[in-house]
Amino acid sequence: MQRIVSGMRPTGKLHLGHYLGVIDNWVKLQNEYECYFFVADWHALTTKYDKTENLRQDILDITMDWLASGVDPEKSTIYVQSQIPEIAELHLYLSMITPQNWVERDPTLKDMAKILKSKEGMTSQINYGLMGYPVLMTADILMFKADFVPVGIDQVAHVELTRDIARRFNNVYNCDFFKEPQPKLNNCSLICGLDGNKMGKSFNNDIKISDTAEITAKKVMSAITDRSRMRKDDPGHPDDCEVAFKYWKIFGSNDEINTVKEECEKGLRGCADCKRQLGAKINERMAEIREKRKYYEQNPKLVIDILNLGADKARKEAQQILKEVKNLVKMY
Ligand code: TRP
Ligand code: SF4
Repeated sequence: MQRIVSGMRPTGKLHLGHYLGVIDNWVKLQNEYECYFFVADWHALTTKYDKTENLRQDILDITMDWLASGVDPEKSTIYVQSQIPEIAELHLYLSMITPQNWVERDPTLKDMAKILKSKEGMTSQINYGLMGYPVLMTADILMFKADFVPVGIDQVAHVELTRDIARRFNNVYNCDFFKEPQPKLNNCSLICGLDGNKMGKSFNNDIKISDTAEITAKKVMSAITDRSRMRKDDPGHPDDCEVAFKYWKIFGSNDEINTVKEECEKGLRGCADCKRQLGAKINERMAEIREKRKYYEQNPKLVIDILNLGADKARKEAQQILKEVKNLVKMY
């Protein structure tokens, strides 16, 4: 079976953008591929090395979001990056054969320097670890010999670098050891935020997987609609309804979408009622996931056991690969 490797940095509870664009896709991939999904906690340190108070909770939170959404430890190997020290060791070998200008040309590095600069108390300085971020990501991927790497568009350059480094390793050590993985694009722009901009936790426009039905309903009531509509019996324009109708198109059945469109255009549907129904619709879709998440929240030991089991499995595999790498490099 072909292999998938993908990771996410633990940045707090996931929202519907992550769920629809990334996780729901992972859940489907599990049936066709051998999947390795991990929490990239070392990658979190590349920018937040000084803000680690919540790191452990963030790791558990993201894992609970995955498990609740249907990422299945029976099918996939789920672990925390730092539980596999072999990845750090592989990173070291790869760093030796990676020319400095290959990492310097990384486009996201420049963006990150800008973000760091804009944060209070931070300098624009790029630390050694952040510089090596794409090489570490390469180690994540090559460690498990991935065929495909599901990533967002901003991460494709890193997978390209992974291919370059894999090829270089094979050349330098005169072998055919690492295969060159392919990026597999996530559908990240599936859902916009409640204000019509990109959904993101720092924009305060998101709906979390872990939000309750009440909070979700309330948030949906704040979604932007057709701004030209003054009274509820004015004819509306679903195509200009910036957020609410877009959500209907994601969460409603074809029949429901048609009904909403028709009633809106004829002025038979007020926006408040429309959004009340929409909130209920979204809650319907998320109910089972939230139920499952609550179960894991109440049994964190289960989550920890799942991560430990996944890490044991991944580590065995990683040890084998690393042994072969060391042989090829001719280490002692
Ligand atoms: N760099 C990715 C991000 O910030 C996370 C990541 C780390 C990753 N290692 C990976 C993704 C390996 C795919 C494969 O989103
Ligand atoms: Fe949008 Fe519904 Fe209002 Fe029409 S009735 S503008 S679809 S929220």
